[in-house]
Amino acid sequence: MSTNKQFDQTQYQAHVHEFLGSTMIATSETEMGLGHNHRFAGVTGQAKPSCNGHVHVMNTNTDFFRGHFHMIEIITGEAVPIYDENNVHIGHVHAVTGATSVEDLHSHVFIVATLIQNPIG
Ligand SMILES: [Fe+2]
Ligand SMILES: [Fe+2]
Repeated sequence: MSTNKQFDQTQYQAHVHEFLGSTMIATSETEMGLGHNHRFAGVTGQAKPSCNGHVHVMNTNTDFFRGHFHMIEIITGEAVPIYDENNVHIGHVHAVTGATSVEDLHSHVFIVATLIQNPIG
């Protein structure tokens, strides 16, 4: 147990979000124009303060397709409040649009929203 609260991570740990998605289709040089996409999933980094609230780092790899995968490293958008069927505020999500790393002479665009924070809270 830490005796220094300034460096005690349990005192400052903030929420995270699960996420999953699929990229849009792109074509590598070796595919002869057929095209392919990738799936990805992960958990964001902890909430980081931002101008209008907070954001998260999203860092993961896609799945493989014919010997390559892509890296995703991006900052999410601001928190978007969400409400249940009775209009009760139940949490927030974050939206992201971006592109993967370039591998095999191509990259993929993606659009995704995180899942709600602390889903069992
Ligand atoms: Fe690819
Ligand atoms: Fe968040």
